[in-house]
Amino acid sequence: MNQVTVSAPGKLVLFGEHAVVYGKPCIVTSVNQRMYLKAQKLSEPIFILNAPDVSIKNYKKSLKDVGIGELPKGATFVEIALKNFIEHHPIDTSGVYISTYSDFKSTFGFGSSSASTVCTIFALSKLFDVKLSNKQIFDLSYKTVLDIQGVGSGFDIAAATYGGTLFFVKGGQMIEQLSISNYKLVVGYTGIKADTPTIVKEIQAKRDKDPKFIDNIFNHIEQIVIQAKEALLKNDLEKFGSLMDENQTYLENLRVSSKILERLIKAARKAGAYGVKLSGAGGGDCMIALAPLSKKRAVEDAIEKAGGQVIKVEVNAEGVKTEN
Ligand code: PMV
Repeated sequence: MNQVTVSAPGKLVLFGEHAVVYGKPCIVTSVNQRMYLKAQKLSEPIFILNAPDVSIKNYKKSLKDVGIGELPKGATFVEIALKNFIEHHPIDTSGVYISTYSDFKSTFGFGSSSASTVCTIFALSKLFDVKLSNKQIFDLSYKTVLDIQGVGSGFDIAAATYGGTLFFVKGGQMIEQLSISNYKLVVGYTGIKADTPTIVKEIQAKRDKDPKFIDNIFNHIEQIVIQAKEALLKNDLEKFGSLMDENQTYLENLRVSSKILERLIKAARKAGAYGVKLSGAGGGDCMIALAPLSKKRAVEDAIEKAGGQVIKVEVNAEGVKTEN
């Protein structure tokens, strides 16, 4: 194979963010806004990257220098994924051209870094005919994220790899596909990009100072996630919604919410949502609301009126796959 195009879904955290970094489970769903990546073999041993969504244009270096030196921010995840792939599965002398484009903005918090990492590993495995299981794709992609960020549970990597809606435990200790009925989420973007690694480190510092307080919150969140799994499997949307509200209260207690998030969340609740919470690290990115179908439009309008941008998504999207 000389070239391949692949895609991986973005994600939203339904329940359990932050606690998942400390070994508690979370529930993540994949969304139908996707990252696309084309990989092509080159006859020279060079690496070329085009990723216009993150301002990378004709970035080029020798294959032997991949992963070495200062890397431009927009190239980091693809380049380190390439380095990790080559280290584990030495390829012939040919080089690689990669280009990416995305349905969604990298500022939404849909997991563009994870999706591009998973796309890179998957595309290279196809290009160089290396058979990898989903778990092997997950492991190599998760290693890539840890090499770069040092922190993270890997839930976003799991969503990009497996798709669907997952009950997930850190590092892929558990990745359980939940077989659920379809439901509609309303997603509101705050217009502010969250700095996930920084917020994760802040929670770490808070926990070092007062482990009892933080662990107590994480234990409550764990109970919410366990109940949420049941509610989802039973398609009990009212319970699902009330658990979202409870989870949001604990995220507010952790102080990872923000004024704008809370403004959008309040507006969505007032307009009749079953439940609303932030999704992800907090401080920005998106909030998610679960609403009765009859109230969906009113919830969307309320979010827009409160200053948010409604992003249309379908949940439970397919994991990484070959296009065409
Ligand atoms: O900000 P996001 O959407 O990447 O979500 C972060 C979720 C955390 O639990 C805070 C971190 C993690 O890696 O699980």
